[in-house]
Amino acid sequence: MSLIEKAAQRLEGLRQGAGQVPQPSRPASQPRLDEPAKVGAVPVSTSSSKSVELDLAALAEAGFVTPDNPRSLTAEEFRVLKRPLLANAAGKSAAPVRNANLIMVTSTQPGEGKSFTAVNLAMSIATELDKTVLLVDADVARPSLPRLFKLPQLPGLLDLLKDKSMNLGDVLLKTNVGKLTLLPAGSPSPHATELLASGAMARLLAEMASRYSDRIIIFDSPPLLVTTESRVLATNMGQIVFVVQAEQTLRSAVQAALATIESCPVKMMVLNQTRHVDKVAYGYGYGYGYGN
Ligand SMILES: Nc1ncnc2c1ncn2[C@@H]1O[C@H](COP(=O)(O)OP(=O)(O)O)[C@@H](O)[C@H]1O
Ligand SMILES: [Mg+2]
Repeated sequence: MSLIEKAAQRLEGLRQGAGQVPQPSRPASQPRLDEPAKVGAVPVSTSSSKSVELDLAALAEAGFVTPDNPRSLTAEEFRVLKRPLLANAAGKSAAPVRNANLIMVTSTQPGEGKSFTAVNLAMSIATELDKTVLLVDADVARPSLPRLFKLPQLPGLLDLLKDKSMNLGDVLLKTNVGKLTLLPAGSPSPHATELLASGAMARLLAEMASRYSDRIIIFDSPPLLVTTESRVLATNMGQIVFVVQAEQTLRSAVQAALATIESCPVKMMVLNQTRHVDKVAYGYGYGYGYGN
């Protein structure tokens, strides 16, 4: 049975099994996550490293996992989602996974919930466990950190790839969530696609995987069927979280996208924005498959 068939079967099983999949009820009136002016961040510079102050109350109000609402339904769902990812990263899987601390979040198309998933996963791991998390804004065409955290445009990934004199430490942003560090997308570049698929990016990923092997690094990545850089990124990732939008993402698109990331040893599928019959709610179903 192919991976997609296994995953689809598992997703189906989870959807049918009442109570197995956490299904948060989220009032329709609750603000969408990209609503402006609610989530704010203030850049603060120090001599050695920059840091930003995330508006955690606004993030919680917008439905994100934050340190202050560990018992929310979203927090509960991400607790379940992160468990196998962290087990692999800790080398607890049956077969050791290379670069298991590099986790890419992707999907077939824009707008399917990659950023929502990446931010919540990063926040969930950083707030609850003794794990340092780096969230990389790698969907450079549609960066999420300025939108969700209301950050100004700051130097980041693209600058690092362009400028050989820059170090990773120069562009990392500490946050008021102790264990969460951010790497912004950086200055827009007409060569963004080439930069992400370049040898410099491969070297950076190798450096991250080895030098920060005790750190979980989450890449909010471009969609697989729109551009090609995600496919190149995928070849260096230990684990991929593949977001499927319930009742939206086409099965044929999922199959085509999964075929492009065959090389990654661990792929976990997340069913995002499940709908209920009697009420509209957002939530996660999840299923996962290993290997090809
Ligand atoms: N599970 C969810 N619950 C609530 N809102 C969501 C959820 N998933 C996605 N959204 C919203 O849907 C929109 C698209 O999601 P986003 O994560 O930005 O997609 P992508 O990064 O794949 O382009 C955003 O407004 C986001 O806040
Ligand atoms: Mg995004």
